[in-house]
Amino acid sequence: MCGIVGAVLTQGSVLEGLIEGLRVLEYRGYDSAGVALGLEGGVAIRRRAGRIEKLEAALGESPPADSQIGIGHTRWATHGPPTDANAHPHTDGGERLALVHNGIIENHGELRAELEAEGVAFKSDTDTEALAHLLGRELDNGAPTLAEAMRRALSRVHGYYAVAAMRFGEQRELVCARQGPPICVGVTPEGAFLGSDVLALIPHTREIVFLDDGDVCELAPGHLRVTRLDGTEVERASQHVSWEEADAGKGVYPHYMLKEIHEQPDVLARTAFSRIDEERGDVLLGHEELGDGGWSDALLRDVSRVQVAACGTALHAGYIARYLIEGLARVPVDADYASEFRYRDPVLMPDTLALAISQSGETADTLAAQRLAREKGCTPAAICNVAGSTLVRESDAVVLTNAGPEIGVASTKAFVAQVIAAYLLAVRMGRARGVIDQARGLELVRDLRLLRPSLERLLSEEHVSEIQAVAARHVEAKGFLFLGRGINYPVALEGALKLKEISYMHAEGYPAGEMKHGPIALIEPGMSTVVVNSRGGVADKVRSNVEQVRARGGQVICVGSDPESLDLADEAIVVPESSEWLSPVLNVIPLQLLSYEIARLRGCDIDKPRNLAKSVTVE
Ligand code: M6R
Repeated sequence: MCGIVGAVLTQGSVLEGLIEGLRVLEYRGYDSAGVALGLEGGVAIRRRAGRIEKLEAALGESPPADSQIGIGHTRWATHGPPTDANAHPHTDGGERLALVHNGIIENHGELRAELEAEGVAFKSDTDTEALAHLLGRELDNGAPTLAEAMRRALSRVHGYYAVAAMRFGEQRELVCARQGPPICVGVTPEGAFLGSDVLALIPHTREIVFLDDGDVCELAPGHLRVTRLDGTEVERASQHVSWEEADAGKGVYPHYMLKEIHEQPDVLARTAFSRIDEERGDVLLGHEELGDGGWSDALLRDVSRVQVAACGTALHAGYIARYLIEGLARVPVDADYASEFRYRDPVLMPDTLALAISQSGETADTLAAQRLAREKGCTPAAICNVAGSTLVRESDAVVLTNAGPEIGVASTKAFVAQVIAAYLLAVRMGRARGVIDQARGLELVRDLRLLRPSLERLLSEEHVSEIQAVAARHVEAKGFLFLGRGINYPVALEGALKLKEISYMHAEGYPAGEMKHGPIALIEPGMSTVVVNSRGGVADKVRSNVEQVRARGGQVICVGSDPESLDLADEAIVVPESSEWLSPVLNVIPLQLLSYEIARLRGCDIDKPRNLAKSVTVE
């Protein structure tokens, strides 16, 4: 969950590029930051607890000399609190090398005891420092290169890591390695660059090599060499990444989250429109970067059930996928937290499609759930936003969501893209199995096109100011209950998650039908209840929840297209009508805006909520 950057150049100074890279990666962890620059006579290290601005201030106070080789890190603390001493980079005792790390070295206690017994003095509480000293020991023991020291040292390490190390002084070397969390590399004639995320590399090159677990990579300008831990050299093909540099900026918006909320009409178009086949009343699941995506008719026909595994917002999209795939393709679906699924020894049949859903494609629990399903003979498939991610590379069939980089920690556009991708999959599956005929297929794909103007309306100034007014009236609420039923029940879960993660207000999402089994006890004046209800099969059931909450003195904000519920509620946020299957795509927008506005009024750090990081690459 930390960000890593590194570079070696033929000429000029590496520092500015490292800081730019760290800024782009700060969303991955933001409790401390640091850089190490290799100099002829040694190293310049600057590191500070706090945001990157603190690091920049430290660099301003004592500017280092120009250097052509360096590494940088933005930290999300796991071992040791966020202090200057625990911030990365860490060095070995002999001060020949510096190291940054993302992940967890599980046997760091044992390694630390062993090194201390040999006289090594540790300067931090981190697990990372043990690896820096191990590398130093391997150099002392005659490892001819930093890469060889890395291979030998890593054979002693248990855990998950992406690491980058730099040797300074006369022998300038830059090396990175991976076991678990991602790391990618790219070269140009002028330099070689590494990063824990493609976003850090695209200002330099779009031809990116994604390292595999167990790879160690040596970098020099214009040159990469990848070996396995036993020293065997391997070829890793580069992949072209189409994301634009501007995609990683905030544009005219004050926060990434708001920018990403406003991108959603375009996300709909990118995820769905080029895949619609109106002639056949069908969709194509492939993508220019992945061909047909692995979705053969045979696979879609022969599957007898679908098991979804995901975390957080992606799981909420997975719950919606359950309604879509069961409802449209008539295939049974189960959906579970990846962190529960992987440890409950699930019973899985080989003709199951194991569908992992993830924005990043790097979430540790989701990857583990997917690997378990593969071991049990299921076909691993994914809905994912990052073409070169581990999840995509480990899946036999993939729908890429094409949402573009999502940087706000609170997921918004990725959710909408995941729901749309699940809809496409349900339609394709129904067509392949003959459950959806051409005429029905045509209706279903046309419904997608109708969403765009409705999304635009929901994001209009008029609508946003309406939500700002609702937010102002509820910013002091004792708490929030979000209720929804059927395909909009997961939207209620998502509304509650969004609000709590960025505004720190207590919020719970519930299936509306469960209200009388417990949560109704919470209702009293001052408690706000958001009821999501659109026209459809369960609208009248949800209507009675609105009445029950109001009868007990609770305040109801109704979001949706069901006119009677909107009339009954204290406040109404009208959402344009759509097909019921696609109503979550519209209903979630006011909930995203409501949490954004409440968090803004409460003065919260919207893009970097406390204790959270964008990508959870450790357990
Ligand atoms: O990258 P992923 O989609 O696998 O991430 C899953 C969750 O960590 C993520 O959705 C998280 O819940 C977000 N912060 C929600 O806004």
